[in-house]
Amino acid sequence: MRIKPTFKRNNHLLSVADLGTQELRDILHLMKLLKDAEREGVRLPLLKDKVLGMIFEINSTRTRISFESAMTQLGGHAEFLSTRTLWVGEGHESMRDTAEVISRMTDGVIMRCESQETMELFARYSYVPVFNGMTLDYHPTQALADVFTMMEHLPNTPLQDMTIMYMGDNNAAYDHNTPVQTELMHMAARLGMTYIACGPQEMLVCDRDKQMFQKLAAESGSGARLIETTDPYEYIADVDFTVSDAFCEGSDETSETTRRRRALLYPAYQVSQQLVDAGKPRLGVMHCLPGKRGEEIADEVWDGPNSLLFEEAENRLNAQKAIVTWFMYTDPVGEAAQRYHMGRVQGFLHQAKRETPAGKYLIDHSEC
Ligand code: CP
Repeated sequence: MRIKPTFKRNNHLLSVADLGTQELRDILHLMKLLKDAEREGVRLPLLKDKVLGMIFEINSTRTRISFESAMTQLGGHAEFLSTRTLWVGEGHESMRDTAEVISRMTDGVIMRCESQETMELFARYSYVPVFNGMTLDYHPTQALADVFTMMEHLPNTPLQDMTIMYMGDNNAAYDHNTPVQTELMHMAARLGMTYIACGPQEMLVCDRDKQMFQKLAAESGSGARLIETTDPYEYIADVDFTVSDAFCEGSDETSETTRRRRALLYPAYQVSQQLVDAGKPRLGVMHCLPGKRGEEIADEVWDGPNSLLFEEAENRLNAQKAIVTWFMYTDPVGEAAQRYHMGRVQGFLHQAKRETPAGKYLIDHSEC
């Protein structure tokens, strides 16, 4: 029977809250090293021949493509596995058994599913690191890319001196899940940033998340601050980055909940040109995407000089490269071991009685 590795929580990436400050800083630094190499046209085969399983229950553009590209650029392979084509689910194979099987055939798994419990169950029975590609609760790979984008935009500003203002729904307990917002708060708490929650009263930070912010900040001794406001202009002069997410992405447009939600958020919490003009000249405007042009962010801001939207999307690739390398890289097997096993296999094949496929088509040139 195969011995199960005794994985700790931080052998997986289920939420950035599971990682300590130093580990987060190390992964951010690794992102920079890998991006520097890529900029000079150097691709490092750090994950040569490693396989990443990619289980998707929900659609994705950025997360799926960035993980696939990351694995190829690092010399490995990513295998896309839609839950629509796996034997997993009601009346079929359990998620526990699916985890046992897939993790015996891969070196890491990225998974996107609605339920954090399903993700945690998979991770519990997995033999390899599991990366949360977004659940309704958490989106760690997005938050890492976001903070990296901030560091690139203000390279001379320590993280402790940066102020983020998250626009709109900051309340994971209201009518919509806020996985990006929640994880950005975790990052800010761990890294000592100032996090301003800006939204309607109903959508300010719930008590559970306030307590979590204080807990992570205290554990890290980071000095992070959490501020709340319903007025986008109250602190804009001090803000380095506005961060938005879709106000109503994927919602039933005909429902009363969506109508009420949109009325609370738009236009009051849109990042407008007027808001940008009231901020610092280097104010960075961010959005995880997908988003609705002209709703969360005014069209002229979306395409304007303060927009970091597409740098942020591009950095998903750099983030995934660092994440898979951090969790999946192993020292190369020694040449002696390679030679020993190659010799055993080749020796066996040489003496075995088998009809080689190539042999069928060999042309005899002896008479030529
Ligand atoms: N931001 C994000 O996770 O994008 P996708 O849903 O396209 O992966």
